Amino acid sequence: METEKQLDVADVDRASADIDRASAEVSGTDLIPVYIMGKRYMVPPSLTIMKAMEWAGYTLIRGVGCRGGFCGACATTYRVLGDPKLYFGLACQTVVRTNMYLAQIPFFPAQRATYDVTQLDPTSATLFSTYPEVLRCLGCGACTKACPQEIDVRSYMAAGMRGDIAAMADLSFDCIMCGLCAARCPAEEAQYNIAILARRLYGRYLAPRSKHLQERLEEIKAGEFDAQLAELKELSEEELISRYQARDIEPAEGSVVEED
Ligand code: FES
Repeated sequence: METEKQLDVADVDRASADIDRASAEVSGTDLIPVYIMGKRYMVPPSLTIMKAMEWAGYTLIRGVGCRGGFCGACATTYRVLGDPKLYFGLACQTVVRTNMYLAQIPFFPAQRATYDVTQLDPTSATLFSTYPEVLRCLGCGACTKACPQEIDVRSYMAAGMRGDIAAMADLSFDCIMCGLCAARCPAEEAQYNIAILARRLYGRYLAPRSKHLQERLEEIKAGEFDAQLAELKELSEEELISRYQARDIEPAEGSVVEED
């Protein structure tokens, strides 16, 4: 049995060496070692974790979505050789480091309530009856340390415990639902699912309404722009591009507008 195991290790080492050589020939750059699911690969140091996995030969069909840091599908956890700290990041945004040991978490099971937001009241009672576990939060901050978006998850959970739906919605606004907070929570909360309930309640019932938006919607419904839209639909691509480029736009923030 031991002999078999040693042969396996030798095979793996040989295969790794082949990959190292092939990688070096292809890239012509200095490569660094990373460990993906326990196996060593040499990859260019400029790649994100996601691109490094693809460079190493993995085809990603889970744990990948927008590739732009928005969908939360690529939650990844890693350690670096000699460093006991557990790190978290998005595979599509985090650049590889030498001797990084990484594993993706394509899905994390979490409690998710079913509700019809149109039938709910925007109150703390709704929050507590839909997710009673919100009151179990220990305030330890493990969730905040795990968040790749640098959201203060502990603070928004504290807002939830106070029944402050507006603050919970505001503080959690950048959440991309990757689930890393839930993975680390000793109170077994699914913070991101609780926070999206707060954002839904806020958006539907509490956020100030835009009078101008409402007026514009009424104008659209009344057909005030139908003729202009019909005209645009008849234009050639070139004419559309030229009209788009000649449109009135607001000056970029911080830019100086020259007076005539
Ligand atoms: S793939 Fe969407 S956040 Fe990384």
